[in-house]
Amino acid sequence: MTARVAIFGDLLDFTAEPAWGETLSSAVRWRPAHWLLVEGGRIVAVQADAPDASWERHDHAGRLVLPGFIDTHVHSPQLDVIASYGTELLDWLNTYTFPAERRYADPAQAEAGAALFLDALLAHGTTSAVVFPTVHKVSADALFAAAAQRGMRLIAGKVLMDRHAPDGLRDDVVQAERDCRELIERWHGHERLAYAVTVRFAPTSSPEQLAMAGRLCAQDPTLYMQTHVAENRAEVQWVRELFPEARSYLDVYARAGLLHPRSVLAHGIWLDDADRAALRDSGAQIAHSPSSNLFLGSGLFGWRAAEAAGVAVSLATDVGGGTSLSMLRTLADAYKVQAMAGERLTAWKALHAATRGAARSLGLGDEIGSLEPGRHADVAVWDWAVGPVAGRRMAVAQALHEQVFAWLTLGDERNLAAAYVAGRPAYRRS
Ligand code: GUN
Ligand code: ZN
Repeated sequence: MTARVAIFGDLLDFTAEPAWGETLSSAVRWRPAHWLLVEGGRIVAVQADAPDASWERHDHAGRLVLPGFIDTHVHSPQLDVIASYGTELLDWLNTYTFPAERRYADPAQAEAGAALFLDALLAHGTTSAVVFPTVHKVSADALFAAAAQRGMRLIAGKVLMDRHAPDGLRDDVVQAERDCRELIERWHGHERLAYAVTVRFAPTSSPEQLAMAGRLCAQDPTLYMQTHVAENRAEVQWVRELFPEARSYLDVYARAGLLHPRSVLAHGIWLDDADRAALRDSGAQIAHSPSSNLFLGSGLFGWRAAEAAGVAVSLATDVGGGTSLSMLRTLADAYKVQAMAGERLTAWKALHAATRGAARSLGLGDEIGSLEPGRHADVAVWDWAVGPVAGRRMAVAQALHEQVFAWLTLGDERNLAAAYVAGRPAYRRS
């Protein structure tokens, strides 16, 4: 394959953060019928004129070309429990999730599961993700190896959990630290991979393990940290009982030195003003997971309150609590969650959070999230409509926001025509 590829279609990305409620936004960059020129895996130019014959041309005329989505919180082993009936968070973990994650102690399961998961992400138009594998070191090794094979930008780390979890799913502080250090050495900064110190959530780590995680972060500020916070009311109450010295659930992490600009905390539904101020001051971000929050009955995230407090918010599927790897479905759910609070999430705000916004919050704005020369060519190509209902809706849509909003509300992975990772075809609909 030639290293010079030209992708043609209707290019949409963002040059800034769209303001809340603005359907006409100067942050939107709309370049219909343009060529995206890619050389050596990176975008080198965007132009209306067709490039010369030295470029391998991929003609996606009439299709939407977007930066690949960034899913900032998702669990690779949980494809096995997606769409499991009838529970809230703590029962859901014990009934479905922990038993499924135990299988990942087996290297063959870890390898097969990682390949299935990453190929599924790509088939949903998601080219980068922040991922929880399992407590087993082999599950992290398998995930990193599979991501490297595919050339993907991926952030992950072995899950830390040394208590309140069944046999076969607990580590201990000493072995966990050794595993983390080995994984960091092997994978952090290797190709497009980065390591995240991965505290499952406060209840499953002892104070000693939280302190160890904090030391790892302090020793290397280029490491990420990922965890869950304030997702479910029974969970919040449990954390209060386990950590009576902490002011709040979030404060457990703050006291352990786990809040910093590379921290990604899923959910954050049950936070107060002091928590939001602490998030803002630390530079940590919330991975809002609306599909999961609805499915597990966790609650409605206050996006505007977070934004008003200066907290960065990205979007995540949280599969298998979430019911789809599709970021389109996730964006549509995010709209509905805000609608329940009387707020209106524009297509621009939602798409920005899933592309350029997430990239910036992860400190990766120079690499991914926009169609800008110099960025890696991680790109997804979408059909505007699948089926007669969406076809009709698109036919009568007028303004660009109307069209894009209907697309993201009606669309899913069936709309994806192709995905590219660093300019290489990574998915093509058959
Ligand atoms: N809290 C702790 N573990 C999990 C998990 O696997 N999924 C969700 N949604 N919340 C969690
Ligand atoms: Zn999660």
